[in-house]
Amino acid sequence: MKKIKASAPGKLMLFGEHAVVYGYPCIVTAVEQRVRVEVQKIENDILKIEAPEVGVRGYTKKIKSLGEKANIPKGVIFLNMAVKNFFKKYKIESGLKIKTKSEFSSEFGFGSSSAVTVAAIKALAELFKIKLKNKQLFDLAYKTVLEVQGVGSGFDLAAAIWGGTLLFVTGGRKIVPLKIKELPLVVGYTGVKADTPTLVRKVAELRQRYPQLVDGIFDNINFVVEEAKNSLIEGDWQKTGELMILNQGLLEALGVNTKKLSDLIFAALDAGAYGAKLSGAGGGDCMIALGSERMKREIAQAVEKAGGKYLEVKPNAEGVRIE
Ligand code: MEV
Repeated sequence: MKKIKASAPGKLMLFGEHAVVYGYPCIVTAVEQRVRVEVQKIENDILKIEAPEVGVRGYTKKIKSLGEKANIPKGVIFLNMAVKNFFKKYKIESGLKIKTKSEFSSEFGFGSSSAVTVAAIKALAELFKIKLKNKQLFDLAYKTVLEVQGVGSGFDLAAAIWGGTLLFVTGGRKIVPLKIKELPLVVGYTGVKADTPTLVRKVAELRQRYPQLVDGIFDNINFVVEEAKNSLIEGDWQKTGELMILNQGLLEALGVNTKKLSDLIFAALDAGAYGAKLSGAGGGDCMIALGSERMKREIAQAVEKAGGKYLEVKPNAEGVRIE
């Protein structure tokens, strides 16, 4: 039977993480490390999944019991929920085989679960001949992610769908593509996988204890994002770098920084980067640094010397597409 393939990019948060969970804007860029999903109808009334990168081989589930969260390997829970939501919304019943392939490790915090969710829904829409606008795809994917992990602004889904570099407000209230020609980023992986829902909850608890202080930090992050939007469009790296350092200080105040992240950030700054900060929830995952093309090599070497893993990443990548 006919096979449909779709791919979606991963993401890197540039500015505004955590505040975006509370209704503020953030800036995210899609990265040219893609997740590929292949879907195919099958005769039996089951969902079959092959996702070898996350250790899933020969997974099967009755279509009728999709959406149950118990006893589902973590690597397939998003796919399981995405298929349930898609079938429910479009009143479809069919057996299905899904295969996934990722160009990046799910450890990096590039948003593999979101990219897989987006690519799967895009491929399903093509397979069942349903016209989905980007916003409809976003809403279905966002519902899926919230059902699985309970928290999240949805910025990573927007990056996977629209691609490029976006100004994004919580839940997709605002999604504005930013015209950016280049973005000379160095990305360093700490070697530690961050647990985003736990970090989001940690910030929520801090906010409960110090509402004025934490909302003040969010307001300041908002100012950073507003300024960064313009400096990125203008290609003013000096200013963008300064804003990264300001954003990093505010994240430090929220308690989501780690020593390992700081080590890599200072190494990048010492090597001449315009600015550097953690990217995403904090607690691990990746840091990003900004330097001219000429400086990138030195910054990358410094990050490696400080114990990070340099990741070759191309930002501003194309959004979801049928392959
Ligand atoms: C995590 O990568 C970014 C957070 O802002 C959470 C979210 O926006 O979903 C901490």
